[in-house]
Amino acid sequence: MSTPAPNAWEAAYLRFETPEEEVRKFLRRLCRLGAEQWPKDAQVVELFCGRGNGLNALQQLGFIKLEGVDLSPALLANYTGPANCVVADCRQLPFSGVSRDIAIVQGGLHHLPELPGDLERVVAEVRRVLRPGGRFIVVEPWQTPFLRCVHWVGSFSTARRAWAKLDALETMTELERPTYEQWLRQPQMVLRCLEANFATERKFIGWGKLMWVGRRESD
Ligand SMILES: C[S@@+](CC[C@H](N)C(=O)[O-])C[C@H]1O[C@@H](n2cnc3c(N)ncnc32)[C@H](O)[C@@H]1O
Repeated sequence: MSTPAPNAWEAAYLRFETPEEEVRKFLRRLCRLGAEQWPKDAQVVELFCGRGNGLNALQQLGFIKLEGVDLSPALLANYTGPANCVVADCRQLPFSGVSRDIAIVQGGLHHLPELPGDLERVVAEVRRVLRPGGRFIVVEPWQTPFLRCVHWVGSFSTARRAWAKLDALETMTELERPTYEQWLRQPQMVLRCLEANFATERKFIGWGKLMWVGRRESD
């Protein structure tokens, strides 16, 4: 069956960074979050995995049991690695309970249409699927002075014409504005939801991002 052509948002995401840039970014983040210390035979699921460069970074770090989940067949079709990837909605994960060790989301939660309900659904699903002691890793946009500054620069058409990456970012932001702004407006709710379900192991906020690792405790 032929793969659907990317829509306007997907096309902007595909031109935002090259796959190589994206893998380097994911490697930096994962190392900061402690991935080099996680067991390499852990069963790892990348949620909202898009075209799968997070999976490529995990593979480069030596992880061997990898899976990806994304709603977009057009984006998943770009992934050619060994991970088992499925088209599914992360609000209802296609995995049995207590069956995975690590779940990672990088830039997916801010696409959820309904807050707090959809966030609670994803977090409950991750909690259901993870084994006790398992890790939930979240990297998402966060309202910081840096992010405000980037969008301020992006409000000038000359800046967008001069810098293709900024133009791709602003195009994505325009097309996802309702969910993006709703996400950025509710940082306390987001942290409450994560921290009510997982014990925080690491948390960094800066440069327009939340980077967080939580551990699933026993029931
Ligand atoms: C900003 S992209 C991030 C992709 C990837 N994690 C990355 O950082 O390159 C957001 C992704 O979330 C996916 N997505 C949005 N809603 C989803 C849902 N409910 N379940 C699964 N995937 C979803 C989109 O198809 C898209 O690939």
